[in-house]
Amino acid sequence: MTTRIAFVFAIGVLVMGAAVLAMTPEAGQETGGAVTFHRDVLPILQKNCQSCHRPGQIGPMPLLSYKEARPWAKAIREAVVSRKMPPWFADPQYGHFTNDRSLKQTEIDTLAAWANSGAPEGDRKDSPLPVRWPEGGSNIQPDAVVE
Ligand code: HEC
Repeated sequence: MTTRIAFVFAIGVLVMGAAVLAMTPEAGQETGGAVTFHRDVLPILQKNCQSCHRPGQIGPMPLLSYKEARPWAKAIREAVVSRKMPPWFADPQYGHFTNDRSLKQTEIDTLAAWANSGAPEGDRKDSPLPVRWPEGGSNIQPDAVVE
C-alpha cells in the first residue's frame, strides 16, 4: 500500500517537472527570443532611417509605424544586409567617419531576424516614444536644442 502511494507521488512529481519544463521556452520568448517591431525594430528605424524615411523627405516610403514598415520588411532586410541602406559611401576601411550612418552588425541582425520571422508587431507598449521630427525642411538634426 505505501509503495503504491510512493509510486503515485513519484509520477506526480515527474508530471509536474515536465509541465515546468514545457512552460520554460514560452517564458523565454517573452523576455528575449522573438524580435518584434515595437520593441526591437522601431528604435533602429528611428535612429537610422526616419531622417529620410518620413513624409516630405527623400526616402520613397515612410517608416514611422508598424503599418508603414510591415510591407517593407523583406526589402528592409535586403537593403540593410547588403548595406545599401542607410546610404553611406565612404569606405570604412579608411578609418571611422564622424557622421558614419552605417548600422552595427547587431542592428542588421535584428532587422533581418524580424523579416525572417514574419515581421511580428509585438506589443505596442514596448515601443519607444515617436520622434518629434521638425516640420518639413532640413533633415540635419542638432545634438541639442537650447530654448
Ligand atoms: C540619407 C537618407 C536615407 C536614409 C538615412 C535611409 N534611406 Fe532608405 N532610401 C533612401 C532613398 C533616397 C531611397 C530610394 C532610392 C534608392 O532605392 O536608393 C531609399 C530606399 C530604401 C528602400 C527601398 C530599396 C529598394 O531596393 O527599392 C528600403 C527598403 C530602404 N530605403 C530602407 C531603409 C532603412 C531600413 C534605413 C535605415 C536602416 C534607411 N533606408 C535609411 C534614403 C535613405
